Amino acid sequence: MQDTLIDASKIILKSNYLIALTGAGISAESGIPIFRGKDGLWRKYRPEELATLEAFRRNPKLVWEWYSWRINLILGAKPNPAHYALAELEQLGLLKFLITQNVDDLHERAGSKKLVKLHGDILTVICTSCDYRNKISEPPRDIPPKCPRCGGLLRPGVVWFGESIPPDALERAFAEAEKADAILVIGTSGVVMPAGAIPNVVKGHGGYVIEINVNESAITNIADCFCKGKAGEILPKIVELVKSMMGD
Ligand code: OAD
Repeated sequence: MQDTLIDASKIILKSNYLIALTGAGISAESGIPIFRGKDGLWRKYRPEELATLEAFRRNPKLVWEWYSWRINLILGAKPNPAHYALAELEQLGLLKFLITQNVDDLHERAGSKKLVKLHGDILTVICTSCDYRNKISEPPRDIPPKCPRCGGLLRPGVVWFGESIPPDALERAFAEAEKADAILVIGTSGVVMPAGAIPNVVKGHGGYVIEINVNESAITNIADCFCKGKAGEILPKIVELVKSMMGD
């Protein structure tokens, strides 16, 4: 494993434009459940009952109860060493951009600045009738919540199944992937498109793919370097190695 971490660190140091793609696995060690696999949310809950516009129209109260539970989990969670390691790589000038599929705010709380949230932000509410949107710092008191401007129904500011990613976010993410000569792919199954295609864009023009995951994923077959293990253990080790090599 130490050799793999050294390889990953060398790729990071040699890169001119390193980006990262993160998924639910990076927040797992902060106590936020992932989606797939035996303990994943989609084992216990049916996405078509909770994470689609149709489900929301059918039963906004049920959907909001589930989102309120997740908002509380996220508000009670803290960034873990993996989030801090990515923020440090950005501060060192090595990580140029971060693309996350996560709707939590742990990257921001750890100090990452240059990032795009492809699947939205669970701490934002959006009106389904007017253009009102607002940040929230606790779950709505009345469920389902109403728009203070027009009285319409407020929804969580996340991207649901069957919905498109906001065009600005999507364009930014793919433009960054076009520029990148290396990508760190952390804690994602890589099965949800279009996010799952981002590492292929980097690989497609000759860039390096470094993956950190506790298991193999849909990305592993294109990874130049697969670091098997927990993000919160592996990433800080890579950052320490990179810093020690910077001095050489
Ligand atoms: P998944 O739940 O599909 O995958 C999580 C990945 O994290 C798996 O590959 C795990 O092996 C890995 N993992 C778990 N714990 C880890 C740890 N401590 N360190 C490193 N890796 C770990 O989550 P995503 O790939 O993020 O979309 O899922 C993509 C999208 O599907 C989500 O954004 C969400 C979901 O439906 C929407 O809500 C639109």
